[in-house]
Amino acid sequence: MTKTAAVTGATGFLGTHLCERLLADGWTVRGLARPTSDRGGLADSLEWHVGDLFDDRTLRSLVDGTDAVFHLAGIGLWSADAATVERVNAGGTRRLLEACRHADVDPGRLVFTSTAGTRRPSEDGGVADETDVVPPVGAYQSSKAEAEELVDDYASAGGEAVTVHPTSIFGPGDETFTTQLLAMATDPAMAVYLPGGLSIVGVSDVVDGVVAAFERGENGAHYILGGENLTLEQAISRIAHCTGGHRAPLEVPAAAIHAAGPVVETVGAVSGIRVFPFDREMARLATKRLYYTSERARDELGYDYDPLEEHVPEAMAWYRSS
Ligand SMILES: NC(=O)c1ccc[n+]([C@@H]2O[C@H](COP(=O)([O-])OP(=O)(O)OC[C@H]3O[C@@H](n4cnc5c(N)ncnc54)[C@H](OP(=O)(O)O)[C@@H]3O)[C@@H](O)[C@H]2O)c1
Repeated sequence: MTKTAAVTGATGFLGTHLCERLLADGWTVRGLARPTSDRGGLADSLEWHVGDLFDDRTLRSLVDGTDAVFHLAGIGLWSADAATVERVNAGGTRRLLEACRHADVDPGRLVFTSTAGTRRPSEDGGVADETDVVPPVGAYQSSKAEAEELVDDYASAGGEAVTVHPTSIFGPGDETFTTQLLAMATDPAMAVYLPGGLSIVGVSDVVDGVVAAFERGENGAHYILGGENLTLEQAISRIAHCTGGHRAPLEVPAAAIHAAGPVVETVGAVSGIRVFPFDREMARLATKRLYYTSERARDELGYDYDPLEEHVPEAMAWYRSS
């Protein structure tokens, strides 16, 4: 018999790739879509449940009797204010877990997509694992940390749930991080890049990790799904090398970014206008090397990732055509 999955965030970047994979593996897929969501190429392939994370009846019908619930819906500070981020990421997770508890037929395992950002290395250039839980910086991280606790409670109270923590996801369809990275590597007009480093993971590797967490993860466990740890300069150079593009020549000094934090914070406090989604703490973080290990996922889930170069051609083809 075919298995049925419920996917929140099915219309987003990661959700679209996950749904394509589940369909290719023979699953029946139910997707949560808002009335305004762009269903893209999946419009005719999914069973759509129309509503949002605050529509309890829609959520219950979405998860009812499914074999798996993949909770990907979330929002970041680039597209919403702090209160909305908190409401959607933490409040929305609470509502979805309530729907799982009160469905007519209990759903199977829930896989929650948090972020690696709730963990951090203890020193610049060190490598963080799942145990390196740190005080959240900004509304996005704190809302994800709160949602993680709710999911942990659900798992320890008789539910089945696993949390995955992707690092920075790179791949076709991502109009934020991937687009910026490709522009910095290929567009001579983008003459600067930021200091600091990060773990970059291809979207197909994250999808593999999410599915493996459903199949083989330990109940209540957390798994970092990362990729290569690179400075931004290394990432941009390697993409430029693959594409024959222009490497951005100038690094913005860390001091300039640190200085921007308080300015933005003050403008926000005085005017009430959200100028830019970061304050002084976020500015400091933006210049650090935030590196991660996915060893636990490798050992327990069989997770693996490809080097950045493997993911560039598909992302580049999408970038050029969009
Ligand atoms: N991309 C990354 O690098 C990265 C890294 C770590 C973790 N994550 C996490 O992975 C998940 C997916 O990320 P993504 O990059 O695919 O994000 P995305 O492209 O922005 O997609 C977000 C999805 O959430 C949905 N959504 C937002 N608010 C909602 C609401 N109130 N009710 C129902 N659905 C709502 C969106 O629906 P609409 O289509 O209607 O907008 C969309 O389907 C998120 O939870 C994110 O925090 C992402």
